[in-house]
Amino acid sequence: MGELDGRTALVTGGSRGIGRAVALRLAADGALVAVHYAGNEEAAAETVGLIAGSGGRAFAVRARFGEDGALDQLFEGLTAGLAEHGEDGLDVLVNNAGIHVMASIGQITEEEFDRVMAVNLRTPVFLIQRVLPLLRDGGRIVNVASTAARIGAPVQIGYAVSKTALTALAAPLANEFGRRGITVNTINPGVILTDMTSPWVNAQETNGWVESLTALGRIGQPEDVADIVGFLAGAQGRWVTGQAIDASGGFYLGPIPPV
Ligand SMILES: NC(=O)c1ccc[n+]([C@@H]2O[C@H](COP(=O)([O-])OP(=O)(O)OC[C@H]3O[C@@H](n4cnc5c(N)ncnc54)[C@H](OP(=O)(O)O)[C@@H]3O)[C@@H](O)[C@H]2O)c1
Repeated sequence: MGELDGRTALVTGGSRGIGRAVALRLAADGALVAVHYAGNEEAAAETVGLIAGSGGRAFAVRARFGEDGALDQLFEGLTAGLAEHGEDGLDVLVNNAGIHVMASIGQITEEEFDRVMAVNLRTPVFLIQRVLPLLRDGGRIVNVASTAARIGAPVQIGYAVSKTALTALAAPLANEFGRRGITVNTINPGVILTDMTSPWVNAQETNGWVESLTALGRIGQPEDVADIVGFLAGAQGRWVTGQAIDASGGFYLGPIPPV
């Protein structure tokens, strides 16, 4: 019997990368998982197929954040999918979908800034608002932000601002929903090997850089983050709320002290 048997989950950006690993983990724990994606139908179908192949339950939901009507489309797909499986409530919401914009303060355009804020911040905020009527007592909200603000890379200005603001959601929402046993937390991944990062992780000039700056000496894998989401979503995570959890293997902790 799985820890999340009888529970439901929505994982945004569940088609690929970290979101896929989270969807697989929650489904393995017994949850019915709504696998959201922007447009990569094949990847979403693959995630759903992997879950079904392991005896789990999942369905795909399409919506491209930042486009008009995306939240309506997501909500309709979610409720329809839940209904098909005899469900009408949501227990776990993982706001994982996100985009990266590589630009410094001198380079970023207003359009790029608006886009990264729309996908990484505005949509998660209003998605939470939208699913509130479905969210059951004892539920979980996990927002996937980033270590970007802590690292302070100049070329991540828009991305870092969007993820730092996303992190600010956890404490007020934890206070608002805590009496219902609902927890709200942020996970800040470091460098995780996905489609988002593989071009520069594997580039010649940055090869080995991440490993050299990571206490645990390797690049993160999507499962490293998914296991933390699994912990927070399960009963063992019940006493953690309003927190930001670093999931970076100790990335960029600073130079190792000589003594
Ligand atoms: N990878 C890292 O090192 C790292 C580090 C820190 C934080 N994060 C954060 O972790 C999350 C997942 O990252 P990842 O590396 O797994 O990303 P990824 O491999 O690029 O996957 C992105 C996911 O988000 C979806 N998505 C992209 N644009 C979207 C849009 N406009 N509207 C709705 N969905 C959209 C994609 O759907 P499609 O498949 O349909 O395109 C896909 O499921 C992001 O929020 C990212 O900022 C990642």
